[in-house]
Amino acid sequence: MTTSVQQADTVQAELLGLATELAAEMAVPADRRDGAAIRRGWERIELQRRRASALLRRERRRGRDSDAGEARAGHKDVRDRKKALTQLRQRIDMWDQMRDLVARHVAPRRVPIRTARTLATEDGLAILLHNAVYLLANPHTQTPEARAHGCFADIPMPLPQFDMLMIAAYRLLLAQGRTEGARFLDVGSGGGTKVLLASHYFAACDGLEYDTAYAAAGARAMQLVAPETCRVMQGDGLTFEHYGDYDVIYFYRPLNEDALLARLEERIFTQARPGTIILAPYNTSLRPRPDLDGAKVADPVFIAGVSQREADDLRRKAEYTGLEIVRRPRDFPFDTGFWSPILEAAQFNGG
Ligand SMILES: C[S@@+](CC[C@H](N)C(=O)[O-])C[C@H]1O[C@@H](n2cnc3c(N)ncnc32)[C@H](O)[C@@H]1O
Repeated sequence: MTTSVQQADTVQAELLGLATELAAEMAVPADRRDGAAIRRGWERIELQRRRASALLRRERRRGRDSDAGEARAGHKDVRDRKKALTQLRQRIDMWDQMRDLVARHVAPRRVPIRTARTLATEDGLAILLHNAVYLLANPHTQTPEARAHGCFADIPMPLPQFDMLMIAAYRLLLAQGRTEGARFLDVGSGGGTKVLLASHYFAACDGLEYDTAYAAAGARAMQLVAPETCRVMQGDGLTFEHYGDYDVIYFYRPLNEDALLARLEERIFTQARPGTIILAPYNTSLRPRPDLDGAKVADPVFIAGVSQREADDLRRKAEYTGLEIVRRPRDFPFDTGFWSPILEAAQFNGG
């Protein structure tokens, strides 16, 4: 006789097969995707919902009647069965969320790459908090050495504009299929407020700051609020050797002389790996120049080491993604099991 654990395993193995097939359809670029195939793929999964739910209900009833004594005794089979059924319940609870997630991939509409993520960043409260964190993180005035080096003082880019750049970079990474473990660098990070904000989007966020007082304040602030994901290092962007370690590089008006800025831009573009997203929001010489190896996605977003055609293709792909962070299997507090292939392929979240 098949046990309940075996039955649950069978249902879930079938669902995994269906989810894997559907994930392959979802992974096709949006302008070539077969929406009808995605709908059919989901219908096949939907047909299994009743079966899975009925199995769960039956087993819960049976468990209540017979397990109490054995569970108290810590019987291993009972524990295993309970664990398997808990996992099944957690996965069944995701069903509607997954239906919505899949539906969004059928015929996604194109959203320009420079689109603000949400009105929340324009909200007075968010702006107030951003400005407060900026002042608290770095209460220092500029050191004479930094001024003599050609540095601007720590003047913050406004929150709404910054967030728009972050979600643009995130969507480009999503289109490149490499959001996982992404590394962000703010060249000229002041007290580190933007490093902290970037950690909403990227796994590891660094700031590089020339001014010793700013850098010490930024390092302390990051240590205090986000030691796992954020740090600020003291150093000179003009001699920094590690731009090749990053996936997204941002710099906002660090230097007040065009010639120095051109040197910094050239260094970043030369060292950055092909495909690195470079965000350079200021009025400057950074326009497609023959000596910069890269292409423009949309002002002020650039990609290092690719042709203009590749950058255009990537932008188009990214414009078919959503304006939100996509949750992958590891972002859930439990094993997402048969839903995992769909979550891995997703370009939108489930809302
Ligand atoms: C305009 S602030 C930008 C602050 C923050 N990144 C933002 O976007 O809100 C420029 C910062 O770049 C720093 N900076 C200037 N030149 C630098 C260099 N060569 N290396 C590292 N940091 C530099 C300045 O000290 C200043 O803190």
